[in-house]
Amino acid sequence: TTRTPLIAGNWKMNLDHFQAIAFVQKLAWALKDAKHDYSSVEAAVFPPFTDLRSVQTIVQADKYEIGYGAQDVSVHASGAYTGEVAASFLASLDCRYVLVGHSERRTLHGEDDAVVAAKVSAALGSSLVPVICVGETAEDLEKHGPSAVPVAQLTRALEGVDSAADIVVAYEPVWAIGSGQAATPKQAEQVAAELRSALRESLGDEAADRTRILYGGSVKANNIAGFMREPNVDGALVGGASLDLNEFASIIRYQS
Ligand code: G3H
Repeated sequence: TTRTPLIAGNWKMNLDHFQAIAFVQKLAWALKDAKHDYSSVEAAVFPPFTDLRSVQTIVQADKYEIGYGAQDVSVHASGAYTGEVAASFLASLDCRYVLVGHSERRTLHGEDDAVVAAKVSAALGSSLVPVICVGETAEDLEKHGPSAVPVAQLTRALEGVDSAADIVVAYEPVWAIGSGQAATPKQAEQVAAELRSALRESLGDEAADRTRILYGGSVKANNIAGFMREPNVDGALVGGASLDLNEFASIIRYQS
C-alpha cells in the first residue's frame, strides 16, 4: 500500500478571520506557482472554528486542493452544550478532517481517553476523518519509555472503531511540542512502528497498511525531510511553523 503523505498545519489559537483569508489565499497561490502535486503530498490546515467558513469559501471558489478541518469537536450531536461545536456542523462546512485529543486538549481541558474515543466516534459519525493525537510527556518517557503511553492512548481511542474507518494518527511527543527540540527521525520511526502494530491489532492489516501516521513536535522546513524518509512516518502535524507562509510551504514542498 502506498500512503499519500499529509502535511497538516495546526494553527492553534492564532490567525483571525481576516488573517486566515490572507494566509490560505497566499498558500494556495504559492503551491500553484510551485506546481505542487497534491496527489504526491496532501496539505491541510486546522484553523480556529471562526475561520472555517472563510477557508471553505477560498478553497472552493478556485477549487484548491488544500484540505481543512477543525481543532476539536463535541462528543454531542446537538443540544444544550454552550460553546460546543457538533461534528455535523463541521461536515456542513465541508471539513475533511478534525483533530481529536491534541495534547493541549488533554492537558488544559482534561480530556481523557474516554472523551477522545467519544470524539473519534462523533467525527466518524459525520464522515469526518479524525486525526487522533497521541504522545507521551517527558515524565511518561522517563517512567514508561517512548511508546507505552501513545500506544495505550491509541488503542483506547480505537475502541468501537470499524476497521473500514478512515482515520489519521498523529504522534506528538509532548516534550517536543513548541519546544524547538524535535524528536529524532529514528525516535519518531520507533514509536510510529509501534503505533502501526497497535493499528494492526485493533483494526487489522488493511487498515494498518492504509492509515497515515504523522509526526508532530517542532517540525520545521529544515528537519522535515529526515522524518519523511522513515518508512512508518507518513507526514507531519505542524504547529508554530504552520503560521509562517514560506516555512509551511517549504515543509509541504519537502520533496523539491
Ligand atoms: O499540533 C501541532 C503540535 O502541537 C506541534 O506544535 O510544531 O509548534 O511544536 P509545534
